[in-house]
Amino acid sequence: MLAIIGGSGLTQLSTLAVTRREVVRTPYGEPSAPLLFGSVAGRPAMFLARHGHGHTIPPHRVNYRANLWALGARGASSVVSVASVGGIRGASPGALVVPDQIIDYTSGRASTFFDGEEGKVVHTDFTRPYTPWLRERCLAAAASAGIALANGGVYGAVNGPRLETAAEIDRMDRDGATLVGMTGMPEAILARELNLPYVAICVVVNHAAGRADSREAISMDDLAHTLASGIERVRALLDHLAPIAVPGEGDRP
Ligand code: HPA
Repeated sequence: MLAIIGGSGLTQLSTLAVTRREVVRTPYGEPSAPLLFGSVAGRPAMFLARHGHGHTIPPHRVNYRANLWALGARGASSVVSVASVGGIRGASPGALVVPDQIIDYTSGRASTFFDGEEGKVVHTDFTRPYTPWLRERCLAAAASAGIALANGGVYGAVNGPRLETAAEIDRMDRDGATLVGMTGMPEAILARELNLPYVAICVVVNHAAGRADSREAISMDDLAHTLASGIERVRALLDHLAPIAVPGEGDRP
């Protein structure tokens, strides 16, 4: 079943016809919200509001392990994350992007299921952090929906909740990050550790700090407006993605 994690601006999913909600308990504590079950475009789907239904949980306090574990335990076969980001290079406000790489700048987050408790050390391959076949399905869904979706980008994951300084963005740019956001990690690696195919659909809501119209400051008002219009396109995209988002024979995480 397709699982959708909704970020800022997508605490509810109007395209999901909800039939059931469930508070899931996990070995890692409580997920951000009850899981909502139903269907998107006639296909079974579940939805989780990353920041809670009332958008009350800041990015550094999201229980990423509980969230991913709950989705896996309740039958997710692929996970689509919707996230808002700042654009560092080649990504202007309003754009939708499926990144293909990640640089992790976060720290202090519980970022693995393999903490050594069971007396074994596990290293997980993460060369391609977003599941390639699922990225391809997102691009195909966007094409069939007639929605522009940029193929590829490097997601720089930061702790937040503060935004970055201009110098931090310059450094991330030199590193090769093209997008900046606060929730992409450890979400992506936790999905991989659970063997769950995972992809992010990023809504660019502002130029990153120090860039273009964010040269002096990032305007939170413009940001909310851009997010709302981006999310509308994400909903349409999800309708086209739902029928093709579950793994087939030979599709790996
Ligand atoms: N920085 C970090 N996270 C973000 C931004 C940003 O500029 N915009 C949306 N999420």
